[in-house]
Amino acid sequence: KRHDNGLSRDLYQLMDEANLYYQSQLRQHTDKQKVIDYLEFRGLSAEVIAHFGIGFAPDGWDGLLGRYRQNQEAQDKLLTAGMLISNDSGKRYDRFRDRLMFPIRDRRGRVVGFGGRVLGDGTPKYLNSPETPIFHKGNELYGLYEVRQRHKDPQKILIVEGYMDVVALAQFGVDYAVASLGTSTTAEQFQLLLRNAKEVVCCYDGDRAGKEAAWRALETALPLLKPGDQVSFMFLPEGEDPDSMVRQTGKAAFEAMTDQAQALPTFLFDTLASKYGTDKGTLAKQAIALIEKIQDSVLQNLLLENLAHKLGMNGADDLKKKMGFRVKPAN
Ligand code: GTP
Ligand code: MN
Ligand code: MN
Ligand code: MN
Ligand code: MN
Repeated sequence: KRHDNGLSRDLYQLMDEANLYYQSQLRQHTDKQKVIDYLEFRGLSAEVIAHFGIGFAPDGWDGLLGRYRQNQEAQDKLLTAGMLISNDSGKRYDRFRDRLMFPIRDRRGRVVGFGGRVLGDGTPKYLNSPETPIFHKGNELYGLYEVRQRHKDPQKILIVEGYMDVVALAQFGVDYAVASLGTSTTAEQFQLLLRNAKEVVCCYDGDRAGKEAAWRALETALPLLKPGDQVSFMFLPEGEDPDSMVRQTGKAAFEAMTDQAQALPTFLFDTLASKYGTDKGTLAKQAIALIEKIQDSVLQNLLLENLAHKLGMNGADDLKKKMGFRVKPAN
């Protein structure tokens, strides 16, 4: 591993240069007006743009590349960093073109990747940095560095789907949201969140994908939970995401919604109840299958007690006997 350190240092340096380049293009590129118009259309303030270091990758194949025309070694490293792409004939070009750029910072504030959004409609809507020696999507959270700049010891962290959600929430004063960088929130990301805050609120988009993401998040979180960890779920009205929501409600009403988020056990039992209704046998089996994922025995028993009461049984012991639940050795 040791021999990688020199390379990593160079990659961080180049990512930082790329970031400064994109930010400078937002100020001085001849096409900057359309980007400024788009930022205005999205309602982003100058302050929040600066805080998150948002920039602009100009259209063209060699905006970034052109700055390293005479430096083959830097080009090689930019390729490794995912900032350039090499085609079949070995010709290199910029990965990010004509996009709004969101730098992704690691916990120490170093830029390790980017998310780039098209300015309007177009596909893909977002282009993300690939996995590189310094960027592992499943281990990073967009906005965590920025949250920790504002709050040394945040009580609560919201996890949302998108870059724009993080940025819009921060602009409206809900400056403790982060986004997972892909479809689902990973176990590593949950662990990171729980290390950083007592309370984690999952706030995905108010659509089918968001609801499915919430359920996957529950399944991912279960094995990691310790007594006292608070993971909850809030559900936005159909068609809304945290960005659109906070713009309608403002900070106070949005925060009131986060206070009303469903605790994980409530979400778990309510979902199963609405799925299996009066079929108590199936409900119990499904609930137990989930509760078995919990590694912490104290918490596991708590949920079993909870389930037993819902099923009208005397307690967890009664439930275990009836369902043949195998108790794990205490950990
Ligand atoms: P806006 O339309 O700018 O408000 O973005 P959004 O965050 O609301 O987008 P959406 O809800 O559609 O997607 C949520 C997140 O999924 C985005 O922030 C991206 O991280 C990711 N995502 C969306 N579209 C794409 C895509 O085309 N490619 C990739 N790789 N990721 C995407
Ligand atoms: Mn604050
Ligand atoms: Mn969505
Ligand atoms: Mn959105
Ligand atoms: Mn969205």
